[in-house]
Amino acid sequence: MREYSIAAIPADGIGPEVIAAGVTVLESLQKRLGDVRFNVETFDWGSAYYRKHGVMMPTDALARLKTFDAIYFGAVGAPDVPDHITLWGLRLPICQGFDQYANVRPTKILPGITSPLRNVGTGDLDWVIVRENSEGEYAGCGGRVHRGLPEEVGTEVAVFTRVGVQRIMRYAFRLAQSRPRKLLTVVTKSNAQRHGMVMWDEIADEVSKEFPDVTWDKMLVDAMTVRMTLKPQSLDTIVATNLHADILSDLAGALAGSLGVAPTANIDPERRFPSMFEPIHGSAFDITGKGIANPVASFWTAAQMLDHLGERDASARLMRAVEKVSGVGIKTPDVGGNATTKQVTDAVVDAIYSSNE
Ligand code: NAI
Ligand code: MG
Repeated sequence: MREYSIAAIPADGIGPEVIAAGVTVLESLQKRLGDVRFNVETFDWGSAYYRKHGVMMPTDALARLKTFDAIYFGAVGAPDVPDHITLWGLRLPICQGFDQYANVRPTKILPGITSPLRNVGTGDLDWVIVRENSEGEYAGCGGRVHRGLPEEVGTEVAVFTRVGVQRIMRYAFRLAQSRPRKLLTVVTKSNAQRHGMVMWDEIADEVSKEFPDVTWDKMLVDAMTVRMTLKPQSLDTIVATNLHADILSDLAGALAGSLGVAPTANIDPERRFPSMFEPIHGSAFDITGKGIANPVASFWTAAQMLDHLGERDASARLMRAVEKVSGVGIKTPDVGGNATTKQVTDAVVDAIYSSNE
């Protein structure tokens, strides 16, 4: 029996709804496979915890999480708590504390899901965006002076280190190399930002020499939005800075049909710490408690988690089940269906049990 300990942090809004759905699906995989066990422990950290304790998570949170094999995260954000508090109080300290420097965001158009792009269907858009997840524009470097006075100044300094850029480039080249097309696009903005971004380009060029079989090109981030929209077939693996990839991956999610299907993995490639798996979407106040949150992003990120844990068979089974269910049209309203979270979850569980592969 292979056993894995998973820390679930459902947190806010629809987070608890989609994580509960994901845990149900993990349990069904466990039963179907018989030789693997997922020991899930759930933590009540998030905005409700903040209202009670004045912090998003306890001070020993990272020490407790460190002992787990993986973290399964919902979403943070509440209407009555400022976003920079929720984000910097929970998600970012975990990503940064555990040096999860590679944020991996696969996007494809699932069967049965319609892209808002005309004439673009399943197979035409199959990307993995690799986001630098430890520094850059979200390094937290900056400050405010003369607060509240007319001469107030706020700075937000992007920090790029050679080590940081090198390791994300290597990760992206290696990932591109592992995919059939061996194709990487490096996103940059080195025309306008002539320090950090020029170094980013230089390091991409250096690292590319280690991967002679990977074809790569470079795109300015603004032009990249055009290429993603007009020529989605021309892209495969994409690497970008923390901010650029944050924005581009929302676009990618929308082009693939809905934010509700887009997953993300915060990976420590060196496996010194647990990696964290989550849907890209936020807490979605507008649909919280209605039972219609799309659980597919949460399932897909669970598949990424299984892959990371080395459970490739379980991961592939889960994705086959998800694609089967979306393919027959059992979908939540955000992707044009009328099913509930529970109906989609039940259908995925059925597909896992009934699959003979
Ligand atoms: P959001 O992702 O929560 O929602 C954007 C839109 O997409 C909404 O109309 C929502 O109903 C829809 N949507 C999102 N996920 C869905 C799903 N699974 N099924 C169906 N529809 C779905 O982004 P928004 O509204 O900008 O942010 C709400 C809160 O979430 C804010 O406090 C924000 O800071 C936080 N947030 C947290 C993130 C995280 O925890 N990683 C990521 C993005 C936002
Ligand atoms: Mg985002």
